[in-house]
Amino acid sequence: MDKKSSLLHNTATHSLQTLEIHNALRTTFVARTIYLFTSLESTNQTALKIAETSIASSNVIPEGTLVLAEAQTQGRGRLGRRWISPPGVNLYASLILLPKMAIKDTPVITCLAAATAVQAVRACTHLEAVIKWPNDVLIHEKKVAGILIELGVAQKQVNYLVIGIGINVNPDIEMFPAEIRTTATSLKAEFGRVVNRNKLMAEFCNKFEENYIRLLDEGPAPIIMQFRSLTTTLGKRVRVITPGKTIEGWAEDVDPHGALILRMEGQTHEVVHSGDVIHLRNSQ
Ligand code: BTN
Repeated sequence: MDKKSSLLHNTATHSLQTLEIHNALRTTFVARTIYLFTSLESTNQTALKIAETSIASSNVIPEGTLVLAEAQTQGRGRLGRRWISPPGVNLYASLILLPKMAIKDTPVITCLAAATAVQAVRACTHLEAVIKWPNDVLIHEKKVAGILIELGVAQKQVNYLVIGIGINVNPDIEMFPAEIRTTATSLKAEFGRVVNRNKLMAEFCNKFEENYIRLLDEGPAPIIMQFRSLTTTLGKRVRVITPGKTIEGWAEDVDPHGALILRMEGQTHEVVHSGDVIHLRNSQ
Protein backbone atom coordinates (compact mmCIF):
# COMPACT_ATOMS: atom_id res chain seq x y z
CA MET A 1 0.00 0.00 0.00
CA ASP A 2 1.42 3.41 -0.89
CA LYS A 3 1.41 6.27 1.65
CA LYS A 4 -1.71 7.87 0.22
CA SER A 5 -3.88 4.76 0.24
CA SER A 6 -2.72 3.73 3.72
CA LEU A 7 -3.79 7.17 4.97
CA LEU A 8 -7.16 6.79 3.27
CA HIS A 9 -7.56 3.35 4.80
CA ASN A 10 -7.01 4.75 8.29
CA THR A 11 -9.37 7.63 7.61
CA ALA A 12 -12.12 5.38 6.33
CA THR A 13 -12.01 2.94 9.22
CA HIS A 14 -11.50 5.38 12.06
CA SER A 15 -13.03 8.76 11.37
CA LEU A 16 -13.73 10.86 14.45
CA GLN A 17 -17.37 10.61 15.50
CA THR A 18 -18.99 12.44 18.38
CA LEU A 19 -21.46 9.60 18.93
CA GLU A 20 -18.70 7.03 19.31
CA ILE A 21 -16.86 9.31 21.74
CA HIS A 22 -20.03 9.94 23.75
CA ASN A 23 -20.76 6.20 23.94
CA ALA A 24 -17.39 5.62 25.61
CA LEU A 25 -17.61 8.55 28.05
CA ARG A 26 -18.05 8.12 31.80
CA THR A 27 -17.89 11.86 32.52
CA THR A 28 -20.45 14.24 33.94
CA PHE A 29 -19.20 17.40 32.20
CA VAL A 30 -15.99 16.85 30.22
CA ALA A 31 -16.74 16.44 26.47
CA ARG A 32 -20.49 16.46 27.01
CA THR A 33 -20.47 19.22 24.36
CA ILE A 34 -18.25 18.48 21.35
CA TYR A 35 -17.56 20.63 18.30
CA LEU A 36 -16.05 18.47 15.56
CA PHE A 37 -14.58 20.08 12.42
CA THR A 38 -13.10 18.59 9.26
CA SER A 39 -10.32 21.17 9.30
CA LEU A 40 -9.37 24.19 11.40
CA GLU A 41 -6.40 26.49 11.54
CA SER A 42 -5.97 25.42 15.16
CA THR A 43 -8.37 23.81 17.62
CA ASN A 44 -6.83 25.95 20.39
CA GLN A 45 -7.52 29.12 18.43
CA THR A 46 -11.15 28.10 17.85
CA ALA A 47 -11.64 27.02 21.47
CA LEU A 48 -10.24 30.33 22.73
CA LYS A 49 -12.60 32.20 20.40
CA ILE A 50 -15.62 30.13 21.49
CA ALA A 51 -14.81 30.71 25.18
CA GLU A 52 -14.15 34.44 24.72
CA THR A 53 -17.32 35.04 22.69
CA SER A 54 -19.50 33.06 25.08
CA ILE A 55 -18.23 34.97 28.10
CA ALA A 56 -18.61 38.33 26.35
CA SER A 57 -22.24 37.51 25.50
CA SER A 58 -22.96 36.28 29.08
CA ASN A 59 -24.06 32.95 27.62
CA VAL A 60 -21.09 31.05 29.01
CA ILE A 61 -20.19 27.82 27.29
CA PRO A 62 -20.38 24.66 29.45
CA GLU A 63 -17.11 23.82 31.18
CA GLY A 64 -15.52 20.77 29.52
CA THR A 65 -16.56 21.71 25.98
CA LEU A 66 -14.27 19.91 23.54
CA VAL A 67 -13.16 21.21 20.15
CA LEU A 68 -11.85 18.56 17.74
CA ALA A 69 -10.58 18.64 14.18
CA GLU A 70 -9.57 15.97 11.69
CA ALA A 71 -6.81 18.29 10.44
CA GLN A 72 -5.17 21.60 11.35
CA THR A 73 -3.62 24.00 8.86
CA GLN A 74 -1.78 26.06 11.50
CA GLY A 75 -1.43 23.73 14.46
CA ARG A 76 0.41 25.48 17.29
CA GLY A 77 3.15 23.92 19.38
CA ARG A 78 4.89 25.18 22.52
CA LEU A 79 7.36 28.05 22.35
CA GLY A 80 5.97 29.34 19.05
CA ARG A 81 6.61 26.14 17.13
CA ARG A 82 4.17 24.56 14.66
CA TRP A 83 2.39 21.26 15.23
CA ILE A 84 2.25 19.14 12.09
CA SER A 85 -1.38 18.12 11.69
CA PRO A 86 -2.19 15.86 8.70
CA PRO A 87 -5.83 14.79 8.19
CA GLY A 88 -7.55 11.68 9.45
CA VAL A 89 -4.84 9.98 11.48
CA ASN A 90 -4.24 11.90 14.72
CA LEU A 91 -5.99 13.63 17.59
CA TYR A 92 -6.09 17.44 17.68
CA ALA A 93 -8.25 18.41 20.63
CA SER A 94 -8.83 21.47 22.81
CA LEU A 95 -10.69 21.31 26.08
CA ILE A 96 -12.24 24.47 27.56
CA LEU A 97 -12.09 24.84 31.36
CA LEU A 98 -13.40 27.63 33.57
CA PRO A 99 -11.39 27.19 36.79
CA LYS A 100 -11.46 29.84 39.50
CA MET A 101 -7.71 30.06 39.71
CA ALA A 102 -4.88 32.60 39.87
CA ILE A 103 -2.63 32.67 36.79
CA LYS A 104 0.36 31.66 38.92
CA ASP A 105 -1.38 28.40 39.87
CA THR A 106 -1.97 27.18 36.32
CA PRO A 107 1.27 25.17 35.79
CA VAL A 108 -0.28 22.33 37.79
CA ILE A 109 -2.88 22.03 35.02
CA THR A 110 0.00 21.32 32.65
CA CYS A 111 1.11 18.50 34.95
CA LEU A 112 -2.44 17.22 35.16
CA ALA A 113 -2.91 17.20 31.39
CA ALA A 114 0.41 15.42 30.79
CA ALA A 115 -0.34 12.77 33.43
CA THR A 116 -3.80 12.27 31.94
CA ALA A 117 -2.40 11.83 28.42
CA VAL A 118 0.02 9.18 29.69
CA GLN A 119 -2.76 7.35 31.54
CA ALA A 120 -5.00 7.38 28.45
CA VAL A 121 -2.25 6.10 26.15
CA ARG A 122 -1.32 3.36 28.61
CA ALA A 123 -4.96 2.32 29.01
CA CYS A 124 -5.57 2.08 25.25
CA THR A 125 -2.29 0.50 24.18
CA HIS A 126 -0.48 -0.86 27.27
CA LEU A 127 2.60 0.96 25.96
CA GLU A 128 5.01 2.33 28.56
CA ALA A 129 4.30 6.03 27.89
CA VAL A 130 6.08 8.51 30.17
CA ILE A 131 6.34 12.28 30.63
CA LYS A 132 9.33 14.42 29.76
CA TRP A 133 8.99 17.56 31.88
CA PRO A 134 6.93 19.66 31.52
CA ASN A 135 4.40 17.97 29.24
CA ASP A 136 5.81 15.90 26.40
CA VAL A 137 4.58 12.33 26.21
CA LEU A 138 7.31 9.93 25.14
CA ILE A 139 7.44 6.29 24.16
CA HIS A 140 10.92 4.79 23.94
CA GLU A 141 12.33 8.36 24.30
CA LYS A 142 10.41 9.56 21.19
CA LYS A 143 7.65 12.16 21.35
CA VAL A 144 4.15 10.86 20.71
CA ALA A 145 2.05 13.70 22.16
CA GLY A 146 2.32 17.32 23.23
CA ILE A 147 0.22 19.75 25.23
CA LEU A 148 -0.27 23.48 24.82
CA ILE A 149 -2.20 25.41 27.45
CA GLU A 150 -3.51 28.88 26.61
CA LEU A 151 -5.37 31.26 28.91
CA GLY A 152 -7.89 34.07 28.80
CA VAL A 153 -7.20 36.29 31.81
CA ALA A 154 -8.82 39.14 33.71
CA GLN A 155 -7.28 40.84 36.78
CA LYS A 156 -4.59 38.16 37.38
CA GLN A 157 -7.32 35.52 37.47
CA VAL A 158 -8.04 32.86 34.88
CA ASN A 159 -11.17 33.70 32.93
CA TYR A 160 -10.99 30.56 30.83
CA LEU A 161 -8.31 28.03 30.00
CA VAL A 162 -7.80 25.88 26.92
CA ILE A 163 -5.87 22.63 27.07
CA GLY A 164 -4.69 21.70 23.61
CA ILE A 165 -3.53 18.16 23.09
CA GLY A 166 -2.03 16.64 19.98
CA ILE A 167 -1.42 12.89 19.81
CA ASN A 168 0.30 11.13 16.91
CA VAL A 169 -2.02 8.16 16.70
CA ASN A 170 -2.00 6.31 13.37
CA PRO A 171 0.49 7.86 10.93
CA ASP A 172 3.33 5.74 9.62
CA ILE A 173 6.75 7.14 10.48
CA GLU A 174 7.48 7.70 6.76
CA MET A 175 4.69 10.29 6.77
CA PHE A 176 6.62 12.46 9.25
CA PRO A 177 8.74 15.30 7.88
CA ALA A 178 12.41 14.31 7.80
CA GLU A 179 13.36 16.73 10.60
CA ILE A 180 11.28 14.89 13.23
CA ARG A 181 11.52 11.32 11.93
CA THR A 182 14.14 10.27 14.48
CA THR A 183 12.66 12.12 17.47
CA ALA A 184 8.91 11.55 17.06
CA THR A 185 6.75 8.46 16.85
CA SER A 186 3.11 7.38 16.67
CA LEU A 187 1.06 4.96 18.72
CA LYS A 188 0.55 2.76 15.67
CA ALA A 189 4.29 2.63 15.01
CA GLU A 190 4.99 1.54 18.60
CA PHE A 191 1.92 -0.64 19.15
CA GLY A 192 1.91 -2.30 15.72
CA ARG A 193 -1.83 -1.79 15.26
CA VAL A 194 -4.25 0.99 14.35
CA VAL A 195 -5.57 2.68 17.51
CA ASN A 196 -9.21 3.78 17.69
CA ARG A 197 -9.05 7.57 18.04
CA ASN A 198 -12.60 7.90 19.38
CA LYS A 199 -11.89 5.49 22.24
CA LEU A 200 -8.57 7.18 22.99
CA MET A 201 -10.23 10.60 23.06
CA ALA A 202 -12.96 9.33 25.39
CA GLU A 203 -10.40 7.69 27.66
CA PHE A 204 -8.46 10.96 27.88
CA CYS A 205 -11.68 12.79 28.83
CA ASN A 206 -12.67 10.16 31.43
CA LYS A 207 -9.30 10.30 33.16
CA PHE A 208 -9.09 14.06 32.81
CA GLU A 209 -12.35 14.61 34.65
CA GLU A 210 -11.28 12.29 37.49
CA ASN A 211 -7.94 14.10 37.86
CA TYR A 212 -9.46 17.57 37.55
CA ILE A 213 -12.07 16.89 40.23
CA ARG A 214 -9.31 15.58 42.51
CA LEU A 215 -7.34 18.78 41.92
CA LEU A 216 -10.35 20.93 42.82
CA ASP A 217 -11.16 18.83 45.91
CA GLU A 218 -7.70 18.07 47.29
CA GLY A 219 -5.40 20.74 45.83
CA PRO A 220 -2.25 20.18 43.74
CA ALA A 221 -0.33 17.72 45.98
CA PRO A 222 -1.82 14.44 44.65
CA ILE A 223 -1.45 15.61 41.03
CA ILE A 224 2.19 16.54 41.55
CA MET A 225 2.80 13.18 43.23
CA GLN A 226 1.22 11.39 40.26
CA PHE A 227 3.29 13.51 37.86
CA ARG A 228 6.51 12.56 39.70
CA SER A 229 5.67 8.88 39.31
CA LEU A 230 5.05 9.21 35.54
CA THR A 231 7.99 11.41 34.52
CA THR A 232 11.34 9.98 33.50
CA THR A 233 13.04 13.37 33.68
CA LEU A 234 13.75 13.09 37.43
CA GLY A 235 17.18 11.67 38.28
CA LYS A 236 18.52 12.44 34.79
CA ARG A 237 21.18 14.89 33.75
CA VAL A 238 19.39 17.44 31.58
CA ARG A 239 19.96 20.47 29.40
CA VAL A 240 17.17 23.04 29.70
CA ILE A 241 16.70 25.61 26.97
CA THR A 242 14.69 28.55 28.31
CA PRO A 243 13.82 31.71 26.38
CA GLY A 244 16.68 33.51 28.22
CA LYS A 245 19.44 30.93 28.68
CA THR A 246 20.51 27.31 28.42
CA ILE A 247 21.52 25.49 31.59
CA GLU A 248 22.60 21.98 32.54
CA GLY A 249 22.14 20.12 35.77
CA TRP A 250 20.57 17.12 37.47
CA ALA A 251 16.76 17.04 37.48
CA GLU A 252 16.16 16.55 41.19
CA ASP A 253 12.46 17.16 41.79
CA VAL A 254 9.24 18.83 40.70
CA ASP A 255 8.13 21.47 43.20
CA PRO A 256 4.55 21.77 44.51
CA HIS A 257 3.67 24.13 41.62
CA GLY A 258 5.05 21.89 38.85
CA ALA A 259 8.38 23.71 38.36
CA LEU A 260 11.53 21.64 37.76
CA ILE A 261 14.25 21.78 40.42
CA LEU A 262 17.75 21.36 39.03
CA ARG A 263 20.85 20.60 41.09
CA MET A 264 23.77 22.48 39.57
CA GLU A 265 27.53 22.06 39.94
CA GLY A 266 28.51 23.20 43.43
CA GLN A 267 25.24 21.87 44.87
CA THR A 268 23.27 25.07 44.17
CA HIS A 269 19.71 24.73 42.88
CA GLU A 270 17.78 26.41 40.05
CA VAL A 271 14.02 26.38 39.73
CA VAL A 272 12.87 26.24 36.11
CA HIS A 273 9.32 27.30 35.29
CA SER A 274 9.32 26.77 31.52
CA GLY A 275 11.63 25.55 28.81
CA ASP A 276 12.63 22.65 26.63
CA VAL A 277 14.35 19.74 28.31
CA ILE A 278 16.86 17.45 26.66
CA HIS A 279 17.61 14.23 28.53
CA LEU A 280 21.39 13.83 28.43
CA ARG A 281 23.47 10.75 28.87
CA ASN A 282 25.10 11.10 32.28
CA SER A 283 28.52 11.88 30.77
CA GLN A 284 27.36 14.22 27.98
C1 BTN B 1 3.93 20.88 21.88
O1 BTN B 1 4.64 21.69 21.28
O2 BTN B 1 4.41 19.84 22.35
C2 BTN B 1 2.47 21.15 22.08
C3 BTN B 1 1.66 20.69 20.89
C4 BTN B 1 0.18 20.91 21.06
C5 BTN B 1 -0.56 20.58 19.80
C6 BTN B 1 -2.05 20.62 20.00
S1 BTN B 1 -2.93 19.93 18.64
C7 BTN B 1 -4.43 20.52 19.29
C8 BTN B 1 -4.15 21.89 19.86
N1 BTN B 1 -4.32 22.89 18.82
C9 BTN B 1 -3.17 23.48 18.52
O3 BTN B 1 -3.02 24.36 17.64
N2 BTN B 1 -2.18 22.98 19.27
C10 BTN B 1 -2.67 21.98 20.20
